[in-house]
Amino acid sequence: MMISKKMEEALNQQIAFEGYASFLYLSMATWCDHKGLQGCAKFLQRQSDEERMHMLKIFEYLSDVDGFALTPGIKEPPRKFKTVQEVFKSVYEHEQKVTQSINKLVTLAKNEEDHATQSFLQWYINEQREEEALMRTVLDRIGLIGDGPQSLYFIDKELDALNQAAAAEAAGGAGA
Ligand code: FEO
Repeated sequence: MMISKKMEEALNQQIAFEGYASFLYLSMATWCDHKGLQGCAKFLQRQSDEERMHMLKIFEYLSDVDGFALTPGIKEPPRKFKTVQEVFKSVYEHEQKVTQSINKLVTLAKNEEDHATQSFLQWYINEQREEEALMRTVLDRIGLIGDGPQSLYFIDKELDALNQAAAAEAAGGAGA
């Protein structure tokens, strides 16, 4: 099957969006690393890798449906952030925007009766639900820790606990 030009263009915009998210989270990771927040940096590096994977999945899909994936020019993300709380709030807000964008793609695929793209996008719907839930967990924990004198130390420890849980899951031990 061949994809419509309109759908192809919209998916290419999503490629650019995912690519920007990957660079944004990488920039945030560097900032955290520089502040000595290794747990936060590692968490954001992993999120950055995830976004690259989200981007590449669309490349593959476009190739499967005889479309052409465009390698995007990526705008430089911010280099500096005020606080670690602000960093994670921005990640959450960015993820909410990505969700809206995926929802628009689904609507377009529906209107075009493009069932293959609709089916492809279901993976992203589930992924966004998980990512938003994860970021809400992070924000809730940061909120519980508060902004007392040792809060950065405890926030970093919490993020590192999430890194370890992710590593255990990646090792195939979900629930182990
Ligand atoms: Fe690819 Fe986190 O959205």
